Amino acid sequence: MNNRRLETLRAMGVDVWVRRQGQTPVSCPDTESADVESELLIETSAEVTPDPGIEVKKQPAADVSDYDWQQLESCVANCTACELHAGRTRTVFGTGNKQASWLLVGEAPGADEDQQGEPFVGRAGQLLNAMLEAIGLQREAVYIANIVKCRPPGNRNPHREEATACHAYLERQIALIQPDLILALGKVAASNLLHCDDTVGKMRGQQHRYGEAQIPLVVTYHPAYLL
Ligand code: URA
Ligand code: SF4
Repeated sequence: MNNRRLETLRAMGVDVWVRRQGQTPVSCPDTESADVESELLIETSAEVTPDPGIEVKKQPAADVSDYDWQQLESCVANCTACELHAGRTRTVFGTGNKQASWLLVGEAPGADEDQQGEPFVGRAGQLLNAMLEAIGLQREAVYIANIVKCRPPGNRNPHREEATACHAYLERQIALIQPDLILALGKVAASNLLHCDDTVGKMRGQQHRYGEAQIPLVVTYHPAYLL
């Protein structure tokens, strides 16, 4: 691990483990391995059987393509377009600077976000704030949103149809913000935005473009993956 990387990780508050003299590492964080990544996906995607007692009524999402921020936010708050609405405490719309140059897109709210109604406020959020700070950015300077606005049960990954049902909201957020850069945090964000099933390791470090406006899109690891 070179010095710059060590310093960056320390600045972000990530514990840096250094190999003891003379020991061979079992695995090296430098070798971005598909195994570790798929393990993480398996761990986070444990299926939860829906409670048969909960009746799930779905309403298709409205056409939000000309909504302003207020209309969009209240539409999301009342949305029942996919199964995820049944298990949420609160919708998690997004937060930050509506004129931001950078839009950060995560995956889905977790337990803390579901309680507070704001994205990235738990442990992953603290690391995200530290990562932003390490590159001289305040959390308030960027806009932060997720692929889906309601918490999936048991923190599983959102299903494709849930991401699809929720997509119009993110699409409208992007159109309203007109960011110079979209930063996709982790596999779920990247694969849904790019319709590409490559590993994060492969998508990272490449130039991507998003949508008609061809907004530059960069893929990086999800802070929870780093944790
Ligand atoms: N992980 C995410 O992807 N989004 C959040 O809002 C919180 C954790
Ligand atoms: Fe609606 Fe999105 Fe929530 Fe599904 S996840 S109910 S589409 S706001």
